[in-house]
Amino acid sequence: MSVDLEKILRPIDNPMPPFVPKYMTVASGEEMVVRQVSREEIPDILPHVEPLMHVERDFYDIVASRVYAELLAYYTHRVQDEYVLVAQINGELAAIVNGRMVNKEVGMSYHTIALRRGLRIGAHAFATKMEYHIDALKQKEVLIVAESPIGFRRWMIEYNLEKRFDIPHELGGVPSWSLTKELFDKARDSLVVGRRPVPEHLLEKAKEAILPPSDPPTPPEDLLAATRSRYDSTATVLMEQRKKLGGQ
Ligand SMILES: CC(C)(COP(=O)(O)OP(=O)(O)OC[C@H]1O[C@@H](n2cnc3c(N)ncnc32)[C@H](O)[C@@H]1OP(=O)(O)O)[C@@H](O)C(=O)NCCC(=O)NCCS
Repeated sequence: MSVDLEKILRPIDNPMPPFVPKYMTVASGEEMVVRQVSREEIPDILPHVEPLMHVERDFYDIVASRVYAELLAYYTHRVQDEYVLVAQINGELAAIVNGRMVNKEVGMSYHTIALRRGLRIGAHAFATKMEYHIDALKQKEVLIVAESPIGFRRWMIEYNLEKRFDIPHELGGVPSWSLTKELFDKARDSLVVGRRPVPEHLLEKAKEAILPPSDPPTPPEDLLAATRSRYDSTATVLMEQRKKLGGQ
């Protein structure tokens, strides 16, 4: 009985070509590998996403909560035609990107989350998933939304995305933006980096284990920092004041 019900609950994925891993040199000089992960690897990723659900800064909380649910949905077969790519530096988890094939022509971009900041790791990972939609899935367009101002700068502005406001995006039903094949072709020389094949030792290291991020975004030192103001977005002033008060 329960086995039969599971058959109904579980969507049957359509065939999708595998993502061919690639690698790139990031601004720190380190090599970053981007590869597709299988369902079996999802439990190794979830523990690194969970802490970000409590980082309010830069909308990590909402993005991490949704990414967690999307990874779990993939793991438990509760989503149709999803794929997950991870970016790793020396095995360390640096970014996660995922999305879904809506149909042969249209892709749905889910999320991009960077676990190491300041190296455009998120931007490179996003470009790689767009490449998967346009070059591997051979889709005409990818529907995208931004949940954060940094995301908006990275996707809508840098790629000059087109509005598709008549189409509600799967992430919250908000109006969609579109990366068409034409826009992606224009961005190829400037925004899309990386090489193939990935040298064997780099790929082996990446597949060996998904290591914890060494410097992930963390919640503020001081919980009161949640009351950060427009002119003190990192709450540094607030924390300095509290230190002074504490020392008096
Ligand atoms: C959006 C995101 C994927 C972009 O990743 P990225 O390309 O690697 O960029 P970073 O986050 O490192 O840097 C973004 C900006 O913050 C600044 N920044 C760098 N280091 C930073 C740090 N430690 N903390 C905060 N900001 C930092 C950078 O200077 C950069 O400015 P720029 O846009 O002028 O270059 C990433 O910011 C992220 O995961 N954000 C939270 C989740 C999210 O919003 N995802 C996208 C949903 S639409």
